Amino acid sequence: MKKARIGLIGLGFMGSTHFRIYEAMENAEIVALADIDPVKRKGDISKVIGNIGNADNSQPLNMTGITVYENAFDMIKDPNVDIVDICCPTPFHADYIIAALEAGKHVFAEKPFARNLEQGARIAEAAKNAKTFLNFGMCVRAWPEYRYAYEQFKAGAYGKMISATFRRLSPDIDGNNWDNWFMDGKRSGGALLDMHLHDTDAVCYFFGRPKAVTSNGVNIVSKGAIDHVITFYHYDDGTLVEAEGSWGAPKTTPFEMTFQIICEKATIRLMAEGFKVYWKDGRVESPSVEATTGWHKELAYFVDCVLNGVAPDKYQSFESVYDAFKVVMAEQESCDAGKRIEIQY
Ligand SMILES: NC(=O)c1ccc[n+]([C@@H]2O[C@H](COP(=O)([O-])OP(=O)(O)OC[C@H]3O[C@@H](n4cnc5c(N)ncnc54)[C@H](O)[C@@H]3O)[C@@H](O)[C@H]2O)c1
Repeated sequence: MKKARIGLIGLGFMGSTHFRIYEAMENAEIVALADIDPVKRKGDISKVIGNIGNADNSQPLNMTGITVYENAFDMIKDPNVDIVDICCPTPFHADYIIAALEAGKHVFAEKPFARNLEQGARIAEAAKNAKTFLNFGMCVRAWPEYRYAYEQFKAGAYGKMISATFRRLSPDIDGNNWDNWFMDGKRSGGALLDMHLHDTDAVCYFFGRPKAVTSNGVNIVSKGAIDHVITFYHYDDGTLVEAEGSWGAPKTTPFEMTFQIICEKATIRLMAEGFKVYWKDGRVESPSVEATTGWHKELAYFVDCVLNGVAPDKYQSFESVYDAFKVVMAEQESCDAGKRIEIQY
């Protein structure tokens, strides 16, 4: 069987998650790895913690047959690599994405695809000229419950949306990452950019481009960033759409990713009671969805697309990811300015 040959950049929480997913896939193999940390280059992930998932990282990863690089730009040039998968800290994404596209590689890059609008514009330019495929880790779009709700909603099953709430609340991840970069607002963009972007993206995915945002945020644990944010997304049709993101709670607090969408015919909830649809006529439905993660779905899909030469458009277009990024940047501006911000697309 033909296998997609993966070159992975960054072996922290997300890189080791992707590593294990590819390892279990029949049609992909990791052929190269780049990380600036010599410990990670040996496959030692014993210090990797992250904020979601409970993987046992005590044993080193199996690095047999994997060419290891200190410098990711060297790995990008490796002729054995078909797909460059970028899982390093956010500020480095833009240069690696652009170099990989220019080297004629397919690229899967973690979110946020860029740290700021200037990097976003440079990536947009490179994406326009690329002949290869480019997708980003907007995993919520592929997460089974979100995807199910999205498909039903878009097919009109629930009727018109009236109000929606999305929530992504993580415990404090101080010390859980390489060089503690998440706690440095300049590098990570705080919980606003790093965590809450998933829900900003979900809002845009379900309901399209908001016209404006009003956000309020506070600094709790990081250096100089928003660690807890609440945003109202303004649409012309009078609907009420709101999302909340945080990594401000003590480490013992459970992780939460939830939503509730109230529509004319039904309310869809992913909440403590599970995934349910409450119909206006009294029926309560528990849709059965695949027991997997959006990470597995998005990577399997991207690998299939690369192997079959089919453009990966199921979960995202470049423009849709770029739009959500512009919205989250407007949320930062709204927090800073203390007022509603109209979004320039
Ligand atoms: N989609 C999701 O659900 C999700 C979840 C967590 C993190 N992420 C994203 O994944 C990315 C990585 O986050 P993480 O939690 O894995 O961080 P991490 O700190 O756990 O790991 C980062 C890794 O990158 C390496 N690294 C640092 N600088 C590098 C460079 N210049 N070149 C190559 N390697 C370098 C580090 O040594 C480390 O191994 C971030 O952009 C983050 O936002 C996405």
